Amino acid sequence: MDDLERLAADLGSADTVVAFTGAGISAPSGVPTFRGDDGVWDRFDEGQFTYGRFQRDPEGFWRDRVELQRVMFDEAYEPNAAHEALAEMGRDGDLEAILTQNTDGLHAEAAAAIDDGGENDEPTVLELHGNSQRVRCTDCGKRRDGDPIFERAANGELPPTCDCGGVFKPDVVLFGEQLPGAVIQRARSLARESDVFLAIGSSLVVEPAASLPRLAASTGATVGIVNLEATPCDDIADVVHREDVTDAIPRLRELVD
Ligand code: APR
Repeated sequence: MDDLERLAADLGSADTVVAFTGAGISAPSGVPTFRGDDGVWDRFDEGQFTYGRFQRDPEGFWRDRVELQRVMFDEAYEPNAAHEALAEMGRDGDLEAILTQNTDGLHAEAAAAIDDGGENDEPTVLELHGNSQRVRCTDCGKRRDGDPIFERAANGELPPTCDCGGVFKPDVVLFGEQLPGAVIQRARSLARESDVFLAIGSSLVVEPAASLPRLAASTGATVGIVNLEATPCDDIADVVHREDVTDAIPRLRELVD
């Protein structure tokens, strides 16, 4: 039995399976990762994208963010076989929830694309770091489609503002910004409830990624990690599998079936 077969056996007998994903699951769709070869943080200074800078210098923040957005989301990306396999596992009742750090919206897109005549629920997708395709007014809280606002900023409206006069902020959690309390609480309780916790395509160095697998392990879950590179959580994992997600996750799904 190989390690993926062992993981599939654990999945098959589990009541609650939770998947946690990072940039590595969207890399095969073309979305750049943050760390690792050619990561975004090699090309940009992550210290310029903090919440503190947004508050101190919204003009400079937005100028740099337009550039980052152009590098990260210039193309229209599509969900790949790994997003689709997770969405199908959710539909089939083999997966309770997908917690993601990604802001590209690809899990929600893959889940919405599943057409089962409304007989089953789509899997719960919790976007822990928000969504890069939206902006939110820091005064009135209104959310707007991001594209036209990024375009206004690219054309020199720095920072772009809402009808109410408030400054728009990308609807993502910035470095130094608290995750919404309700979201992180839900993520923690799902990790605690899980019998199997799968961490997929994440370096597991940024919170809450760093602590959720440990939390799951501390309450008795089997922890599986699918990632190309080593992570700081490998030592607490029951299964560590190094393979491209677009090969590993569809095979895992087939093995569970
Ligand atoms: N298959 C499997 N793993 C992959 C693949 C692939 N095709 N491509 C890349 N990976 C792995 C890399 O080896 C790397 O360890 O995905 C991991 C991605 O790590 P990060 O780029 O650090 O992404 P992530 O963990 O999601 O980053 C967390 O950091 O800057 C922030 O807010 C940003 O949400 C992000 C957070």
